[in-house]
Amino acid sequence: MILVTGANGQLGRRIVQHLIAREPSLLDGRLGVSVRDAARANELASRGVIVRQADFDQPDSLAAAFAGIRRLVLVSTDGPAAQRSARHRQAIDAALAAGVSHILYTSSLDAHADSPSGFARAHQETEAALAHSGVAHTVLRNTLYADDLRQLAEPALAQGVLRLPAGTGRVSLVSRDELAQAIAAAALAPRLDKHMYELTGQTALDYADIAARIARVSGRPLSYEDVSAEAYAGSLVAQGVPGWFASALTERFVSVAAGRLAATSSDFAALVGHPPKSLDCLIHEYFAPRSPA
Ligand SMILES: NC(=O)c1ccc[n+]([C@@H]2O[C@H](COP(=O)([O-])OP(=O)(O)OC[C@H]3O[C@@H](n4cnc5c(N)ncnc54)[C@H](OP(=O)(O)O)[C@@H]3O)[C@@H](O)[C@H]2O)c1
Repeated sequence: MILVTGANGQLGRRIVQHLIAREPSLLDGRLGVSVRDAARANELASRGVIVRQADFDQPDSLAAAFAGIRRLVLVSTDGPAAQRSARHRQAIDAALAAGVSHILYTSSLDAHADSPSGFARAHQETEAALAHSGVAHTVLRNTLYADDLRQLAEPALAQGVLRLPAGTGRVSLVSRDELAQAIAAAALAPRLDKHMYELTGQTALDYADIAARIARVSGRPLSYEDVSAEAYAGSLVAQGVPGWFASALTERFVSVAAGRLAATSSDFAALVGHPPKSLDCLIHEYFAPRSPA
């Protein structure tokens, strides 16, 4: 049986949907999810998915949730970095105790101890905990979600300027849904050739280039302006973003500026069978003016 954690979240829910699409017979009692609020997973339960309640902050809830699981898709949690690492360690310990034979973990590019990004360092800590545990595991390092371009660019389009502390660093964006597709493919693969997969777009572009492409597709002016990390974090806080999250988002762009999220690889295609959508295609989906119905 495969179990996906965080299945009420955006990535986790999509992983479940792609698992079902790839192998509908999983619904014969071979697909489970763990969620904090089982009522929010009623739709999955009605389709035949086994829904178990579990909270990584409550280790006692994990033994029953992970019982009888062969493959565990451990979806990284949200919240401050230190909290994430602690939660993931609890989940790994519980999986070991429950006899899970293989863990697939949704990590991130730039998962290194020397990353400027606290989120990336938390992913590195989880990867290290997995290695230390001795359990068979596969690390799926996600690139940045292309979806987030919408939240970044919509207010910027109103001003005509996208201001980020990303310098001339490049990113290789993929949509959340396609990342979920690749993770589902990995979870179902009879054999995985690699221990670590980097799920990236085919090309990496800097934000000046991305802004120019959004402008072209949307028909609205948009330029890119590099701003200091302090100015960016301050602008987020001024918009009401909690301080810890403003710092975390800023650190991520500092990593981008340092070229730490520019990797491209063919791992996505190796898992899914074809490459992910190009960034131009995604920008078109997100920003092309809608024709009147
Ligand atoms: N690559 C990127 O650009 C990028 C961007 C943003 C985030 N991320 C990472 O990817 C992860 C998944 O992304 P997403 O879009 O699915 O985020 P999301 O919708 O915010 O989902 C976060 C998930 O974390 C789970 N969670 C939080 N606290 C938990 C706990 N104590 N025990 C068990 N589960 C807990 C939530 O469970 P419930 O459903 O029960 O609430 C939820 O499913 C994020 O958490 C973050 O680590 C990556």
